[in-house]
Amino acid sequence: MKVRIFDTATALDQAAAQEMVDLLKEKPNAVICMASGNSPKGACEQFARIAKEQDVDASAFFFIGLDEWVGVPAGLRGSCHYDFQERIFGPLGLDASRYHLFDAMAADLQQECQRMDALIAAKGGIDLMIVGIGMNGHIGFNEPGSAFDLKAHVRELDEITASVGQKYFDQPMALKYGITLGFGHLLQAGKVLLLANGPAKAEVVQLAVEGRVGPAFPASVMQLHVQGMVMVDAAAGALLKS
Ligand code: F6R
Repeated sequence: MKVRIFDTATALDQAAAQEMVDLLKEKPNAVICMASGNSPKGACEQFARIAKEQDVDASAFFFIGLDEWVGVPAGLRGSCHYDFQERIFGPLGLDASRYHLFDAMAADLQQECQRMDALIAAKGGIDLMIVGIGMNGHIGFNEPGSAFDLKAHVRELDEITASVGQKYFDQPMALKYGITLGFGHLLQAGKVLLLANGPAKAEVVQLAVEGRVGPAFPASVMQLHVQGMVMVDAAAGALLKS
């Protein structure tokens, strides 16, 4: 795992977007999996801009959504679906055949997980994963205690996740479960970028990078990935020793 600290969040966003662009230049049919939320927002915007400016062929890559709030409809502002529609699918004009996200309204969520695992296997795995880090150290909805070998699964959300998650919605939401890829996917991905910005993330970033590796602090999984890169702005990286 490497760590890159950027002077500003904008510089961080640009570098993450450039990673996506570079991958598509090298492998136009790459599989990219992304978290929604605030951390990758700027990177998505920069990606759409740089891809157009550099005339990148974005017609063949496949996009996978990392997770979704169970019971939240795709069209509701605040859902991961909604985020990606606004930031990626719309701006890049992606056809629905070019992406797959969990259907968190499905009657059979186990089947949704199996569908996701089978799809990723059929695509030959994930080339690039871009994730954020929650205030309890989660990645996706891999909450503290989640085993490192899980594939897609449904997870009961802890109190921090359910309360912090309210920030995405226009009205109070009952957030009880999440459906998510697991660290089995993350550890097998070609490359993983963990993005974090702002002072509120400094402590969790420090634990992820310098803390003990294990399910008690999920983002510590990054330390196990040879092609893992923690990309932070100066504020989020403020507590790192080196
Ligand atoms: C969202 C997701 C979450 C977030 C994390 C950080 O799809 O996977 O794990 O990445 O909660 O959220 P932000 O970036 O909004 O601080």
